[in-house]
Amino acid sequence: MSINRPPGYLRVSLLSACNLQCSYCLPAGKRRPTIFAPDDRVRSAIRLLHHFGIRKIRFTGGEPTLSKSLCELVSFVKALDGDIHTAITSNGVLLASKAQALSAAGLDSANISLDTLDPAKFRALTGRDYLDRVISGIYAAAKHIGSVKLNCVLMQGINDDETEKLILFADSRGLDLRFIEFMPNRYSALGDPRFVSSDEILDRLPWDLRPLPGRPNGAARYYTAPSLAIKVGFISPVSHPFCDGCDRVRLTAGGLLYTCLYDSSSINLFDLLTADYGRARTAFDELMRSKQFGGCRSTTGSATTLPSFFAMGG
Ligand code: 5AD
Repeated sequence: MSINRPPGYLRVSLLSACNLQCSYCLPAGKRRPTIFAPDDRVRSAIRLLHHFGIRKIRFTGGEPTLSKSLCELVSFVKALDGDIHTAITSNGVLLASKAQALSAAGLDSANISLDTLDPAKFRALTGRDYLDRVISGIYAAAKHIGSVKLNCVLMQGINDDETEKLILFADSRGLDLRFIEFMPNRYSALGDPRFVSSDEILDRLPWDLRPLPGRPNGAARYYTAPSLAIKVGFISPVSHPFCDGCDRVRLTAGGLLYTCLYDSSSINLFDLLTADYGRARTAFDELMRSKQFGGCRSTTGSATTLPSFFAMGG
Protein backbone atom coordinates (compact mmCIF):
# COMPACT_ATOMS: atom_id res chain seq x y z
CA MET A 1 0.00 0.00 0.00
CA SER A 2 1.22 3.49 -0.76
CA ILE A 3 -0.49 6.70 0.33
CA ASN A 4 0.59 10.17 -0.70
CA ARG A 5 0.83 12.12 2.53
CA PRO A 6 2.78 15.21 3.52
CA PRO A 7 5.44 14.55 6.17
CA GLY A 8 4.95 16.17 9.57
CA TYR A 9 7.39 14.45 11.86
CA LEU A 10 11.14 14.22 11.36
CA ARG A 11 13.42 11.96 13.39
CA VAL A 12 17.09 12.88 13.17
CA SER A 13 19.71 10.35 14.23
CA LEU A 14 22.62 12.62 15.24
CA LEU A 15 25.14 9.86 15.74
CA SER A 16 25.29 6.09 15.77
CA ALA A 17 27.27 5.97 19.03
CA CYS A 18 25.67 5.08 22.35
CA ASN A 19 26.89 4.78 25.94
CA LEU A 20 24.85 1.59 26.39
CA GLN A 21 24.88 -1.60 24.38
CA CYS A 22 21.33 -2.89 24.65
CA SER A 23 21.07 -6.42 23.35
CA TYR A 24 17.91 -5.68 21.35
CA CYS A 25 19.65 -2.84 19.55
CA LEU A 26 23.16 -4.20 19.07
CA PRO A 27 23.54 -7.94 19.72
CA ALA A 28 26.76 -9.18 21.30
CA GLY A 29 29.55 -9.50 18.77
CA LYS A 30 28.05 -6.94 16.35
CA ARG A 31 29.90 -3.72 15.76
CA ARG A 32 28.47 -0.26 15.41
CA PRO A 33 30.16 2.10 12.95
CA THR A 34 30.88 5.51 14.46
CA ILE A 35 29.09 8.11 12.40
CA PHE A 36 28.45 11.69 13.51
CA ALA A 37 26.16 13.98 11.55
CA PRO A 38 27.95 17.24 10.67
CA ASP A 39 26.17 20.16 12.38
CA ASP A 40 26.00 22.44 9.37
CA ARG A 41 24.39 19.73 7.26
CA VAL A 42 21.87 18.82 9.92
CA ARG A 43 20.86 22.47 10.15
CA SER A 44 20.53 22.83 6.38
CA ALA A 45 18.57 19.57 6.18
CA ILE A 46 16.20 20.75 8.91
CA ARG A 47 15.76 24.12 7.17
CA LEU A 48 14.87 22.34 3.94
CA LEU A 49 12.53 19.81 5.54
CA HIS A 50 10.81 22.62 7.44
CA HIS A 51 10.00 24.10 4.01
CA PHE A 52 8.55 20.72 3.09
CA GLY A 53 6.17 20.78 6.06
CA ILE A 54 7.92 19.28 9.09
CA ARG A 55 6.26 20.36 12.36
CA LYS A 56 7.91 18.10 14.91
CA ILE A 57 11.56 17.09 15.24
CA ARG A 58 12.89 14.32 17.44
CA PHE A 59 16.64 13.95 17.92
CA THR A 60 17.69 10.35 18.36
CA GLY A 61 20.84 8.28 17.87
CA GLY A 62 22.54 6.19 19.01
CA GLU A 63 22.25 8.35 22.09
CA PRO A 64 21.54 11.99 21.21
CA THR A 65 22.84 13.42 24.50
CA LEU A 66 26.33 12.26 23.44
CA SER A 67 26.20 14.90 20.72
CA LYS A 68 27.97 18.09 21.82
CA SER A 69 25.64 20.06 19.54
CA LEU A 70 22.31 18.84 20.88
CA CYS A 71 21.46 22.01 22.84
CA GLU A 72 22.46 24.29 19.96
CA LEU A 73 20.43 22.23 17.52
CA VAL A 74 17.34 22.49 19.73
CA SER A 75 17.84 26.29 19.95
CA PHE A 76 18.37 26.42 16.20
CA VAL A 77 15.05 24.65 15.56
CA LYS A 78 13.18 26.93 17.97
CA ALA A 79 14.72 30.02 16.35
CA LEU A 80 13.73 28.71 12.91
CA ASP A 81 10.11 28.22 13.95
CA GLY A 82 8.99 28.40 17.57
CA ASP A 83 5.97 26.26 16.75
CA ILE A 84 8.04 23.20 15.86
CA HIS A 85 7.82 20.65 18.65
CA THR A 86 11.31 19.54 19.72
CA ALA A 87 11.88 16.16 21.34
CA ILE A 88 14.57 13.63 22.15
CA THR A 89 14.59 9.89 22.70
CA SER A 90 17.28 9.18 25.27
CA ASN A 91 18.51 6.35 27.47
CA GLY A 92 18.64 8.87 30.34
CA VAL A 93 22.23 8.14 31.38
CA LEU A 94 23.42 11.74 30.92
CA LEU A 95 20.17 13.58 31.59
CA ALA A 96 20.94 14.34 35.25
CA SER A 97 23.52 16.85 34.03
CA LYS A 98 21.89 17.86 30.74
CA ALA A 99 18.13 18.10 31.28
CA GLN A 100 18.15 21.69 32.57
CA ALA A 101 20.25 23.06 29.70
CA LEU A 102 18.18 21.18 27.14
CA SER A 103 14.99 22.61 28.56
CA ALA A 104 16.49 26.11 28.56
CA ALA A 105 17.44 25.59 24.90
CA GLY A 106 13.78 24.94 24.09
CA LEU A 107 13.38 21.17 24.32
CA ASP A 108 9.66 20.42 24.61
CA SER A 109 9.65 16.73 25.43
CA ALA A 110 11.75 13.68 26.17
CA ASN A 111 11.08 9.97 25.87
CA ILE A 112 13.37 8.03 28.16
CA SER A 113 13.98 4.31 27.81
CA LEU A 114 13.47 2.30 30.98
CA ASP A 115 13.34 -1.42 30.33
CA THR A 116 13.99 -2.68 33.85
CA LEU A 117 14.21 -1.52 37.47
CA ASP A 118 16.50 -4.38 38.44
CA PRO A 119 20.20 -3.36 38.50
CA ALA A 120 21.48 -6.84 37.58
CA LYS A 121 19.04 -7.12 34.69
CA PHE A 122 19.94 -3.62 33.58
CA ARG A 123 23.59 -4.63 33.43
CA ALA A 124 22.77 -7.83 31.54
CA LEU A 125 20.57 -5.97 29.06
CA THR A 126 22.73 -2.90 28.46
CA GLY A 127 26.26 -4.05 29.31
CA ARG A 128 26.59 -1.20 31.84
CA ASP A 129 25.92 -0.62 35.54
CA TYR A 130 24.09 2.63 34.95
CA LEU A 131 20.58 2.06 36.32
CA ASP A 132 21.17 4.65 39.10
CA ARG A 133 22.26 7.22 36.54
CA VAL A 134 19.17 6.55 34.44
CA ILE A 135 16.88 6.97 37.46
CA SER A 136 18.62 10.28 38.35
CA GLY A 137 18.29 11.28 34.69
CA ILE A 138 14.56 10.56 34.79
CA TYR A 139 14.14 12.69 37.95
CA ALA A 140 16.08 15.58 36.41
CA ALA A 141 14.11 15.36 33.18
CA ALA A 142 10.80 15.28 35.08
CA LYS A 143 11.88 18.40 36.98
CA HIS A 144 13.08 20.46 34.03
CA ILE A 145 11.48 19.25 30.79
CA GLY A 146 7.83 20.06 30.03
CA SER A 147 6.77 16.58 28.97
CA VAL A 148 8.52 13.31 29.82
CA LYS A 149 7.44 9.79 28.99
CA LEU A 150 9.03 6.47 29.84
CA ASN A 151 9.42 3.82 27.14
CA CYS A 152 9.85 0.14 27.88
CA VAL A 153 10.53 -2.51 25.25
CA LEU A 154 8.93 -5.61 26.74
CA MET A 155 10.65 -8.90 26.12
CA GLN A 156 9.28 -12.32 26.95
CA GLY A 157 11.28 -14.00 29.71
CA ILE A 158 13.53 -10.95 30.10
CA ASN A 159 11.53 -8.08 31.60
CA ASP A 160 7.88 -9.00 31.06
CA ASP A 161 7.67 -9.89 34.76
CA GLU A 162 8.31 -6.24 35.66
CA THR A 163 5.28 -4.56 34.11
CA GLU A 164 3.52 -3.88 37.43
CA LYS A 165 6.69 -2.61 39.09
CA LEU A 166 7.36 -0.30 36.14
CA ILE A 167 3.80 1.07 36.20
CA LEU A 168 4.02 1.74 39.94
CA PHE A 169 7.37 3.48 39.49
CA ALA A 170 6.02 5.65 36.66
CA ASP A 171 2.86 6.40 38.65
CA SER A 172 4.90 7.44 41.70
CA ARG A 173 6.70 10.01 39.52
CA GLY A 174 3.59 11.07 37.61
CA LEU A 175 5.13 10.02 34.28
CA ASP A 176 3.22 8.28 31.49
CA LEU A 177 4.71 4.92 30.56
CA ARG A 178 4.54 3.17 27.19
CA PHE A 179 5.16 -0.51 26.62
CA ILE A 180 6.64 -1.15 23.20
CA GLU A 181 6.36 -4.44 21.39
CA PHE A 182 9.68 -6.00 20.44
CA MET A 183 10.09 -5.22 16.75
CA PRO A 184 11.82 -7.32 14.12
CA ASN A 185 14.97 -5.62 12.93
CA ARG A 186 18.22 -6.18 11.11
CA TYR A 187 19.29 -8.69 13.74
CA SER A 188 16.07 -10.54 14.55
CA ALA A 189 13.15 -11.81 12.51
CA LEU A 190 9.40 -11.53 12.94
CA GLY A 191 8.52 -14.32 15.41
CA ASP A 192 11.53 -13.69 17.66
CA PRO A 193 10.97 -15.56 20.96
CA ARG A 194 11.38 -12.26 22.85
CA PHE A 195 8.17 -10.94 21.30
CA VAL A 196 5.17 -10.59 23.60
CA SER A 197 2.00 -8.91 22.36
CA SER A 198 0.45 -5.84 23.97
CA ASP A 199 -2.87 -7.67 24.33
CA GLU A 200 -1.21 -10.39 26.37
CA ILE A 201 0.37 -7.78 28.64
CA LEU A 202 -2.95 -5.97 29.01
CA ASP A 203 -4.63 -9.24 29.99
CA ARG A 204 -2.03 -9.94 32.64
CA LEU A 205 -2.12 -6.52 34.35
CA PRO A 206 -4.12 -6.42 37.59
CA TRP A 207 -5.59 -2.92 37.05
CA ASP A 208 -8.99 -2.24 35.57
CA LEU A 209 -7.40 -0.52 32.58
CA ARG A 210 -9.79 1.37 30.34
CA PRO A 211 -8.91 2.65 26.90
CA LEU A 212 -8.68 6.40 26.40
CA PRO A 213 -9.98 7.69 23.09
CA GLY A 214 -7.70 8.53 20.18
CA ARG A 215 -4.05 8.04 19.44
CA PRO A 216 -2.71 11.48 20.34
CA ASN A 217 0.80 10.84 19.05
CA GLY A 218 -0.23 8.41 16.36
CA ALA A 219 1.66 5.48 17.78
CA ALA A 220 0.45 4.66 21.29
CA ARG A 221 -2.95 3.48 22.46
CA TYR A 222 -3.47 4.78 25.98
CA TYR A 223 -5.25 3.29 28.98
CA THR A 224 -5.80 4.39 32.53
CA ALA A 225 -7.33 3.00 35.71
CA PRO A 226 -9.17 4.71 38.58
CA SER A 227 -6.26 4.02 40.94
CA LEU A 228 -3.58 5.35 38.54
CA ALA A 229 -2.61 8.98 38.08
CA ILE A 230 -0.81 8.23 34.81
CA LYS A 231 -1.61 6.90 31.36
CA VAL A 232 -0.23 3.54 30.33
CA GLY A 233 0.42 3.37 26.61
CA PHE A 234 0.91 0.46 24.27
CA ILE A 235 2.97 0.89 21.13
CA SER A 236 2.18 -2.21 19.15
CA PRO A 237 3.79 -2.01 15.72
CA VAL A 238 3.51 -5.78 15.28
CA SER A 239 0.01 -6.55 16.61
CA HIS A 240 -1.70 -3.15 16.03
CA PRO A 241 0.31 -1.35 13.33
CA PHE A 242 -0.13 2.42 13.18
CA CYS A 243 1.11 2.84 9.60
CA ASP A 244 -2.18 4.46 8.54
CA GLY A 245 -1.50 7.53 10.64
CA CYS A 246 2.26 7.64 10.06
CA ASP A 247 3.77 10.86 8.71
CA ARG A 248 7.35 10.23 9.84
CA VAL A 249 10.55 10.65 7.90
CA ARG A 250 13.92 9.58 9.28
CA LEU A 251 17.29 11.17 8.67
CA THR A 252 20.42 9.14 9.46
CA ALA A 253 23.68 10.66 10.70
CA GLY A 254 25.09 9.87 7.25
CA GLY A 255 22.42 11.98 5.55
CA LEU A 256 20.10 9.31 4.19
CA LEU A 257 16.40 10.08 4.42
CA TYR A 258 14.03 7.13 4.92
CA THR A 259 10.26 7.02 5.35
CA CYS A 260 10.02 3.88 7.47
CA LEU A 261 12.17 1.49 9.54
CA TYR A 262 10.99 -1.24 7.17
CA ASP A 263 11.39 0.45 3.80
CA SER A 264 14.95 0.45 2.49
CA SER A 265 14.38 3.15 -0.15
CA SER A 266 16.13 6.40 0.70
CA ILE A 267 17.51 9.59 -0.77
CA ASN A 268 20.82 11.18 0.17
CA LEU A 269 19.58 14.44 1.62
CA PHE A 270 23.05 15.77 2.48
CA ASP A 271 24.02 15.46 -1.21
CA LEU A 272 20.82 17.20 -2.25
CA LEU A 273 21.60 20.19 -0.02
CA THR A 274 24.06 21.38 -2.64
CA ALA A 275 21.56 20.84 -5.48
CA ASP A 276 19.04 23.46 -6.45
CA TYR A 277 15.79 23.62 -4.51
CA GLY A 278 13.70 22.18 -7.34
CA ARG A 279 15.79 19.04 -7.64
CA ALA A 280 15.73 18.47 -3.89
CA ARG A 281 11.95 18.97 -3.86
CA THR A 282 11.43 16.50 -6.70
CA ALA A 283 13.59 13.83 -5.06
CA PHE A 284 11.80 14.35 -1.75
CA ASP A 285 8.33 14.19 -3.31
CA GLU A 286 9.26 10.98 -5.11
CA LEU A 287 10.46 9.43 -1.86
CA MET A 288 7.21 10.43 -0.12
CA ARG A 289 5.14 9.04 -2.97
CA SER A 290 6.95 5.73 -2.66
CA LYS A 291 6.47 5.55 1.14
CA GLN A 292 5.28 2.05 1.96
CA PHE A 293 2.70 1.47 4.66
CA GLY A 294 3.28 -2.24 5.24
CA GLY A 295 5.21 -1.71 8.48
CA CYS A 296 7.14 -4.48 10.17
CA ARG A 297 4.66 -7.11 9.00
CA SER A 298 6.04 -6.58 5.52
CA THR A 299 9.38 -8.04 6.58
CA THR A 300 9.65 -11.73 6.03
CA GLY A 301 12.49 -13.66 7.57
CA SER A 302 15.19 -11.47 9.06
CA ALA A 303 15.32 -7.92 7.83
CA THR A 304 19.06 -8.14 7.21
CA THR A 305 18.99 -5.76 4.28
CA LEU A 306 17.46 -2.96 6.37
CA PRO A 307 19.60 -0.38 8.12
CA SER A 308 19.91 -1.06 11.86
CA PHE A 309 17.73 0.79 14.36
CA PHE A 310 20.76 2.63 15.74
CA ALA A 311 21.38 4.07 12.25
CA MET A 312 17.72 4.88 11.63
CA GLY A 313 17.04 6.25 15.10
CA GLY A 314 14.91 3.39 16.49
N1 5AD B 1 11.90 -3.25 19.30
C1 5AD B 1 11.24 -2.19 19.78
N2 5AD B 1 11.80 -1.00 20.04
C2 5AD B 1 13.12 -0.90 19.83
N3 5AD B 1 13.96 0.14 19.99
C3 5AD B 1 15.18 -0.26 19.61
N4 5AD B 1 15.16 -1.55 19.21
C4 5AD B 1 13.89 -1.97 19.33
C5 5AD B 1 13.21 -3.20 19.05
N5 5AD B 1 13.84 -4.27 18.55
C6 5AD B 1 13.55 1.47 20.43
C7 5AD B 1 12.94 1.51 21.80
C8 5AD B 1 14.02 1.96 22.70
C9 5AD B 1 14.68 2.94 21.79
C10 5AD B 1 16.08 3.25 22.16
O1 5AD B 1 14.68 2.30 20.52
O2 5AD B 1 11.98 2.53 21.79
O3 5AD B 1 13.52 2.51 23.90
